[in-house]
Amino acid sequence: LKHVVDSGDFNRAAVDVVFKEALKMEKVKPNTKESKVLSGYIMSTLFYEPSTRTRLSFESAMSRLGGTVLSTESAGEYSSAAKGETLEDTVRTVEAYADCIVIRHFQEGSAKRAAAVASVPILNAGDGPGQHPTQALLDLYTIQREIGRLEGIKVGMVGDLANGRTVRSLCMLLSMYNDVQVYFVAPEVVKMRDDVKAYLTARGIKWTEASDLHEVAADADVLYQTRIQRERFLDMNEYAAARGKYIIDKDLMRILKPTAVVMHPLPRVDEITTDVDSDPRAAYFRQARNGLYVRMALLKLCLADGHPDIPL
Ligand code: CP
Repeated sequence: LKHVVDSGDFNRAAVDVVFKEALKMEKVKPNTKESKVLSGYIMSTLFYEPSTRTRLSFESAMSRLGGTVLSTESAGEYSSAAKGETLEDTVRTVEAYADCIVIRHFQEGSAKRAAAVASVPILNAGDGPGQHPTQALLDLYTIQREIGRLEGIKVGMVGDLANGRTVRSLCMLLSMYNDVQVYFVAPEVVKMRDDVKAYLTARGIKWTEASDLHEVAADADVLYQTRIQRERFLDMNEYAAARGKYIIDKDLMRILKPTAVVMHPLPRVDEITTDVDSDPRAAYFRQARNGLYVRMALLKLCLADGHPDIPL
């Protein structure tokens, strides 16, 4: 495999390679040999949906390793997609200008479509409600760094699980580790989709649907909150019904184990109150920082190393 489009393509050996490299990336300093390993390489970012963390951390990662970034502002509006060009034609064009392409697109399966025609690596930066594999890798890296292990952990996934590509991708990675237990806590209209439940069941991972966030918070090692994604709703009454149902606030933090962490892929709206931010167990900004190191690792492995253990 050559592309990073789906978390399900990773095995434990590949994850270990990425994590080992990400750990090294935490120590890369400007103007050193390590900071120039991607000198001469070009990464293109094609973002058809808004992003702060994924886009900027990919661009920062490339810059911090000495590479160059080629972008278009809001690809849906300002690239020739606005004139009706297909994603496939855009990819066939951009691959002549760049050594890898990072794509965020509103349609599930779009990254796979891009990979099917691309001669350079495609890195999926989120395809609608489908997959967000680089986020899942940084989430798993954060859990490893914060909790110190991946085996036997209990993870409560909260919020918009039907539309949440981060939780879908994370479930796939977690399924590789022994004795992991997952709790799904979601409003009725955005429950976890059946394909993910079947994926976990097929791999012997215990999962439970729960409605009491307090009960889950008391037992979880990781409480992974997600935003109710207004932009994915066709019926705003359903959005209103889902929003605000499960909030992590200071009161809930009293129930959480002292060793547990709260994670969130961000951006947040109001599903974690800001007074939680100062709690040492609030790991979401450390999580966002880890995105830089994991993406530096992926770009190096993908462009400079061609590592045989990583599915690229
Ligand atoms: N977590 C994440 O994907 O954030 P952005 O939408 O800001 O990239």
